[in-house]
Amino acid sequence: MIISTTPLLDIKGLNAGYGGVRVLHDVSLSVGQGEFVTVIGANTAGKSTLLRTISGLVEAQGSIRFDGQELVGRPSHLVPALGIAHVPEGRHVFPEMTVEENVMLGAYAVRSASDLATRRDRILTMFPRLRERLHQAAGTLSGGEQQMVAIGRALMLEPKLLLLDEPSHGLAPKIVDELHETFLAVSRTGTAILLIEQNTTLALSVASRGYVLEAGRIVLSGTSAELTGNDAVRSAYLGL
Ligand SMILES: Nc1ncnc2c1ncn2[C@@H]1O[C@H](COP(=O)(O)OP(=O)(O)O)[C@@H](O)[C@H]1O
Ligand SMILES: [Mg+2]
Repeated sequence: MIISTTPLLDIKGLNAGYGGVRVLHDVSLSVGQGEFVTVIGANTAGKSTLLRTISGLVEAQGSIRFDGQELVGRPSHLVPALGIAHVPEGRHVFPEMTVEENVMLGAYAVRSASDLATRRDRILTMFPRLRERLHQAAGTLSGGEQQMVAIGRALMLEPKLLLLDEPSHGLAPKIVDELHETFLAVSRTGTAILLIEQNTTLALSVASRGYVLEAGRIVLSGTSAELTGNDAVRSAYLGL
């Protein structure tokens, strides 16, 4: 018997760019339900553009099917409600607002008060550091803690797919390890993750599968083990 499973995210023949300058060329990529996938690529390869295109922030042609719906042509403000949370590059917190206020901003679409409390508690259990600093202004936190706030806010949506754009950038190794443990914990709850990291070794150590993006084109894909063992990946991205 053949069991066909439709991927949660299924991108086919995607072209995208800015004002006539094409950045992504014929990109095809998929993420299964609950799967942890990474996109590897050098600076300016188009990784952030790919995530922004999924979120509806970049003009695109081609197809992005998500959970049975076509995303191309859909305005970006409708995308979160479909179950996609995007944590963009940089650490975006509102510095004057408390940790709790920042996290709760992610819950704007949650209607039931008991759901809100459950989600809030789940996130604070995942990030004990945030529970300790709940009433502190987010701007006074360390970079790593601010990143946890941004991720916690995204998780308030209980997304089916979490898009993470270089969450470890500029953070101390100890906090990076903590963050990646959290990603694995999120992944174990059944949330699919599409992760971008400059640190390829790190990305391949947590994701189960990956794609290599070069100058806006997917040039290689495979399981993390296959990519780690690939000579071209080893010399270009793993410094081996
Ligand atoms: N808002 C923008 N307007 C015009 N060009 C952009 C914009 N954002 C990115 N680009 C260009 O798109 C290309 C890919 O950028 P980006 O997706 O940020 O790459 P990466 O995240 O892999 O470093 C780069 O050449 C960059 O200059
Ligand atoms: Mg980028």
